[in-house]
Amino acid sequence: MQEFGWGVIGCGEIANVFAVSLKSLNRGRLVAGASRTPGKAEAFAKRHTIPRSYSDYDALLADPEVDIVYISTTHNFHFECVKQCLEGGKHVLCEKPFTINAEQTRRLAALAKEKNLFVMEALWTRFLPAILKLQELIASGEIGTVETLYTNFCLGFDLPPEHRMRNIDLAGGALLDLGIYPISMADIIFGEKPSRFSSFATMDRETGVDEHSHYVLEFGDRKKALLSSSYSQAAPKDAIVSGTKGYIRVPDFLAAQELHIHKTDAEPEVLRFPYGESENFKYEIAHVMDCVEAGLRESNVMPLSKTLEIMELMDAIRKPWKLVYPGE
Ligand SMILES: NC(=O)c1ccc[n+]([C@@H]2O[C@H](COP(=O)([O-])OP(=O)(O)OC[C@H]3O[C@@H](n4cnc5c(N)ncnc54)[C@H](OP(=O)(O)O)[C@@H]3O)[C@@H](O)[C@H]2O)c1
Repeated sequence: MQEFGWGVIGCGEIANVFAVSLKSLNRGRLVAGASRTPGKAEAFAKRHTIPRSYSDYDALLADPEVDIVYISTTHNFHFECVKQCLEGGKHVLCEKPFTINAEQTRRLAALAKEKNLFVMEALWTRFLPAILKLQELIASGEIGTVETLYTNFCLGFDLPPEHRMRNIDLAGGALLDLGIYPISMADIIFGEKPSRFSSFATMDRETGVDEHSHYVLEFGDRKKALLSSSYSQAAPKDAIVSGTKGYIRVPDFLAAQELHIHKTDAEPEVLRFPYGESENFKYEIAHVMDCVEAGLRESNVMPLSKTLEIMELMDAIRKPWKLVYPGE
């Protein structure tokens, strides 16, 4: 198996989960972290026993031991960071949302092709064993014909206005930060582009981003996904996949470890797919290394065409809300 050196750009909250997940794989090595915030890369390196830390992103890109970069800055910086990595000759795994709009995704997809480098959006939920099993159960007709998905990603947090989820300068808002998960879940279940949608949003009175938003997606003329996201309102993060012969409940669907199968003619059954704490990214990280080792330039699970499809949908969803980010 080929050994890969990883670098992290943006040493914030979620970079810690990446570092723990990578370590748990016993494959690939985190060789450097870079942060523009003074002292942050050093602290990150110390916490995760990483050999090198840099105070600017270019220095990390010049590190010959870095093969693949994980980008975990706030969304507004993703476009520039992915571009910088590709121009620096590095493969990329970039946090969700990949960019703030579809146009940026298109430009990066073209650049990745030109540079012949691997790029993937870090939609880790798609790689979880529980989710793969769920797709298998649906395909085998375990709960009959599936035509409805209900799911939410709602937090109920009291956040200050400068927090990335509320801050318009950081491309905040529930849709881009949280809604992307229920929308991706609808794609995981139905595997096709919605034929139409409707959406509703309640805007943050102070910062102007969507505080909670709701989306109804239709696939073909019968299948529907009823989805919500919010940073200020709380709700269970369950996904319920509803079929003609029963339903499957996925508690905390984005980090799924259990499937609760309720068939109309059988006793309920629970299937478990546990993983260790903060190891939830290990499946997507392993997938990236498998792809790069095989010489692939895109994932077959999360290709850039899928990222673009979802970005286009999110652009269209927020258009009637008149939510425009700085620079757009
Ligand atoms: N996959 C998941 O489960 C998951 C979970 C949470 C977040 N995310 C995604 O990961 C990304 C980062 O989220 P996070 O919670 O880790 O964010 P964070 O800790 O608030 O910030 C991450 C990094 O972004 C830069 N940054 C943050 N605020 C900034 C500001 N006001 N001005 C300039 N730079 C700023 C800093 O980079 P430097 O270190 O260079 O200073 C910071 O270390 C987001 O795109 C988010 O959607 C994914």
